[in-house]
Amino acid sequence: MIKGVAGVPDILPSEIRNWHYLEAKARQLLENYGYVEIRTPIFEKTELFVRGIGPDTDIVKKEMYTFSDPRHESLTLRPEATAPIMRAFLQHKMYTKGSLVKVYYLGPMFRHERPQAGRFRQFHQIGAEAIGLENPSLDAEVIAMVDHLFADLGIQPIKLLINSVGCKVCRPEFRKRFTVYLEPKVAKLCPDCQERLKRNPLRILDCKNEACQEVIAKAPKLTAVLCHDCGSHFRQVQGALSFLKVDFTINERLIRGLDYYNRTAFEFVNPALGAQNALAGGGRYDGLAEEIEGVSTPAIGFAMGMERTLASLSPALRDPSPSFEGTFIATLGDEAFRSGMLISQELRKKGEKVVLDFEGRSLKSQLRWANKEKFRYCVIIGDEELKKRLVILKDMASAEQSEVPISQVIDRILSFAREKRT
Ligand code: HAM
Repeated sequence: MIKGVAGVPDILPSEIRNWHYLEAKARQLLENYGYVEIRTPIFEKTELFVRGIGPDTDIVKKEMYTFSDPRHESLTLRPEATAPIMRAFLQHKMYTKGSLVKVYYLGPMFRHERPQAGRFRQFHQIGAEAIGLENPSLDAEVIAMVDHLFADLGIQPIKLLINSVGCKVCRPEFRKRFTVYLEPKVAKLCPDCQERLKRNPLRILDCKNEACQEVIAKAPKLTAVLCHDCGSHFRQVQGALSFLKVDFTINERLIRGLDYYNRTAFEFVNPALGAQNALAGGGRYDGLAEEIEGVSTPAIGFAMGMERTLASLSPALRDPSPSFEGTFIATLGDEAFRSGMLISQELRKKGEKVVLDFEGRSLKSQLRWANKEKFRYCVIIGDEELKKRLVILKDMASAEQSEVPISQVIDRILSFAREKRT
């Protein structure tokens, strides 16, 4: 038997309500903050991710699903959506639409990571990008929006970590100090970090290896060397968050796994989730547009992991019981089945949900099934009743039933449905 790929799960019908619930909540909230959906392709030119995310990041070095198309062009399944959105923004000159463009997205991302609880090779993100302004109040609004989303979803406990990762002006100074501090301790670092020390020492801050964590515990802090502008920007972000009553903790080691960030970096973690506890992450990426096309465009955004967020939902929301809805048509005999088909089509054309039995089951088992599936009404058509041009209409919630002329059954169900909606 051919099974699915490890770390690439199916989303089964039994789980789909939770996904729809999360998607609907997120869409509504992001639209309330003025974001409009954008859909970029599942794959892009590899170069976009190498330049955008950074050649020394784990994502680019080890985790991309890269393939050659028949014309030998190197393409990659998107590991994230920020670089593709910036590509689309520049390609379609979306900056002509105004000085601030706000877009949101949701969909699958692909990273070749070691699968474990909360870590998949195909996973889903909901995210948003606000492109065009450097204003620190915008950073605060994006962070407050994610906080609002988690509050709306009732997710507890949740912790917001923020940091400033500086800019092109102050980061080289930090890099110098950090390297000077690490060089005498290089033997204690893991092989990956020994390599990182030569190429991109800041990535060491992101290493999960315990020995490396110990070495960096006493390292100089990035926030201590922020330039005047970055320091002021970070203070204003904190001020605006406090003003908006969003609780946060400054984590000076928060560097994030993508190289495009500058200034604000943030993560929402659920401490109850174990190792893969980051539910959402984001930050400012004022240099990404320049990396892609050479035009400077400041921007900030976030992405939330849908699988991890769903795992954090309270069990009541995670498994919302379906409400009574729709009509089931139970039939007995060929003539009855044909009438059932006609009634179903008629009702569906009027916008109703209707399901008909195709298995020729006994009436009892059809009704048992309709009850289990929580249908609101059942129309029972038997060949005997049909001779009298009658059907039985059963309200599945109250179990009341009555005989109705077949010519009236459609109007009866439509008027019940209308009543229920008002
Ligand atoms: P990221 O931190 O790489 O950021 O991913 C965001 C979220 O996606 C994580 O916090 C996590 O919940 C989820 N996630 C990431 N990898 C996996 C995985 N292998 N399995 C399950 N969930 C995962 C970004 O992707 C940036 N593009 C966010 C951003 C938007 N920054 C600015 N704008």
